[in-house]
Amino acid sequence: MRKILVTCALPYANGSVHIGHLVEHIQADIWVRFLKLQGHDVHFLCADDTHGTPIMIESRKQGITPEKLIGDAWIEHTEDFKGFQIQFSHYSSTNSPANKELCEFFFEKIKAGGHLGSKKIDQLYCEHDKMFLPDRFVKGECPKCGAKDQYGDSCDVCAATYTPADLKSPACAICGNKPVLKQSEQLLFKVNNFKSFLENWIPQHLSRDMVAKMMEWFKEDLREWDISRNAPYFGFQIPGYTDKYFYVWVDAPMGYVSTTKEYAQQGKLKFEDYWKSEDSEVYHFIGKDITYFHALFWPALLKSADFRLPTKIHVHGMLTVNGEKMSKSKGTSLKVKTYLKHLDPMYLRYYYASKLSSGVDDIDLNLEDFSQRVNSDLIGKITNLASRGAQMLSKKMDGVMSDPDEKGFALLSSLQASAPKIAEAYEKLEFSKAISEIRFLADEANRYFDEKAPWKTLESDPAGTKQVLTTTLNVFRNLAIFLKPVLPAYTQKVEKLFNEKPYSWKDLKTTLKNHKINDYEHLATRLDPVKVQAMIEESKVTETKTTPAPLHAAAAPQETSAHCSIDDFSKIDLRIGKIVSAEAIPEADKLLKLQIDLGPLGTKQIFAGIKSAYEATSLVGRLTVVVANLAPRKMKFGMSEGMVLAAGAGGKELFILSPDSGAKPGDKVK
Ligand code: MSP
Ligand code: ZN
Repeated sequence: MRKILVTCALPYANGSVHIGHLVEHIQADIWVRFLKLQGHDVHFLCADDTHGTPIMIESRKQGITPEKLIGDAWIEHTEDFKGFQIQFSHYSSTNSPANKELCEFFFEKIKAGGHLGSKKIDQLYCEHDKMFLPDRFVKGECPKCGAKDQYGDSCDVCAATYTPADLKSPACAICGNKPVLKQSEQLLFKVNNFKSFLENWIPQHLSRDMVAKMMEWFKEDLREWDISRNAPYFGFQIPGYTDKYFYVWVDAPMGYVSTTKEYAQQGKLKFEDYWKSEDSEVYHFIGKDITYFHALFWPALLKSADFRLPTKIHVHGMLTVNGEKMSKSKGTSLKVKTYLKHLDPMYLRYYYASKLSSGVDDIDLNLEDFSQRVNSDLIGKITNLASRGAQMLSKKMDGVMSDPDEKGFALLSSLQASAPKIAEAYEKLEFSKAISEIRFLADEANRYFDEKAPWKTLESDPAGTKQVLTTTLNVFRNLAIFLKPVLPAYTQKVEKLFNEKPYSWKDLKTTLKNHKINDYEHLATRLDPVKVQAMIEESKVTETKTTPAPLHAAAAPQETSAHCSIDDFSKIDLRIGKIVSAEAIPEADKLLKLQIDLGPLGTKQIFAGIKSAYEATSLVGRLTVVVANLAPRKMKFGMSEGMVLAAGAGGKELFILSPDSGAKPGDKVK
């Protein structure tokens, strides 16, 4: 029995998890489940990555503490992963006492080993926000091609890379003011001290197709890595410094180790067996965008603190949808939550499995192919074997299997002979090969079933018919075992159908004979392409905004108030509206449903969170001010096509705005 620890990259806590993240989580989950089926001792760990400037800024924007923001994200992320049957042994957070302690421990080791340096660095500083600005928080013109509105690290138009200080007319991305150059001292990790170690280590521990590119890093000395950030910063303070924090990419990978530590404290494993011993195996799953951190800095950090190194870093490619990068406006930047509202997770688990290999090529979710492949393979080829075979056996016969016929035995033994091949494909992360093999076997079984045509022989040869059904069901049972890592919930239903204990790989060897089955219960539904479309549409409507729009302006207290340019302001179409009808929504504490006449713009339906302050009927006939061009938003009770402005503290203290007499519905508010 192997002792194995598997991790996924830690998702950032400042956003929802989406179907791009799921490539990695599904890949790792299938692998973990496969290894467990083989009887190994496997622990699957992950955590939220909770520190850094974006999280600090996002929480300020929402008017909440960063702790609240990451707390909410943790709840959302763990629910989403559970919804997709990603079976973590423990899911933690980098903002934990264990992680803080570990960072401090590593820091001491780096210092003691002579790997710590420092340097005065010039950095852009915003005097308004009183903070140093990370690359992504400076915008300006690209120094090379002049494109406007580019980030401080690289240009989206010409792909040039540079430092924020190179940007022409730089502006703080938070407040729009011009930043100044300011010097401060930063702490550095001397990665170059590990150069020859890494040059030797990388080729043995990363997929071959990545290595050639990585070897180019070693043509020159490795640059020192800036591991500190100035206050204000949401993270861990560096011991001995009052205004310096560990850069988020220092404490994030440490999360792998501190999560193990927490899990060990729950008594689930011995910490030393994994991070201090070579008798176990440790694997990281990551996307290719974060290879640099995992192949260079992370092994060097582990080495500097005398921890063991990962057995292997598995790198995957990026998800594209219909051949393009995921896009919010096209609705393809699909949140897990939105997916789960519309579709069964098993469809995507199956589809990703059918596309995944051990390589780093991007993988494409083509939405048409998605429906087709699920319906033709999973429903048409595989599930049909059970639904036809089991229903005939239970409804037309006594529900007891007999034994396979001669051809059936041959079929079953060829299936069992495929087991090592399929196991090897799973082990090597060649899931697409495993799935094609399974599909091929299902094709053979269908051919057998159609040739034997048991529905024709039911009356004339009941014993022979039973043998055919027995074969078919045994084949199906084996296919379900093969698919168990990919479709755990589905296989669970199959275990119930055959009245058996949870399957392990060993159960492939048994053939059920003279065995009573349970009544057939529905195993899987066809994937309706209309639902896929509805999901994409909903994603377009609700996911184009990063935060949900407040129902009225007073609902979103903002701690910081950023400048809004005239251009920004002119995008908002404020209009006078006349409330023509108003009704309370009994199921909602706060909402009134309003129909508002906007003159030439027609009548719009708006849900406004002002129920606590107004009787619905008292509003009818009143004029008020409305944001008329807010993107329509699908709410539980219907579409909301705009926003009514209101002021006040909330509750009874809410006041809608009224124009002076003379204003008419549809008038523009300027
Ligand atoms: N927080 C860092 C990881 C720290 S690990 C010590 C991070 N977070 S992330 O949320 O941006 O990404 C988490 C993982 O999801 C990464 O491995 C990343 O490659 C993967 N993916 C994010 N978007 C993806 C796609 N569109 N497609 C495939 N994988 C994607 O990076
Ligand atoms: Zn600023």
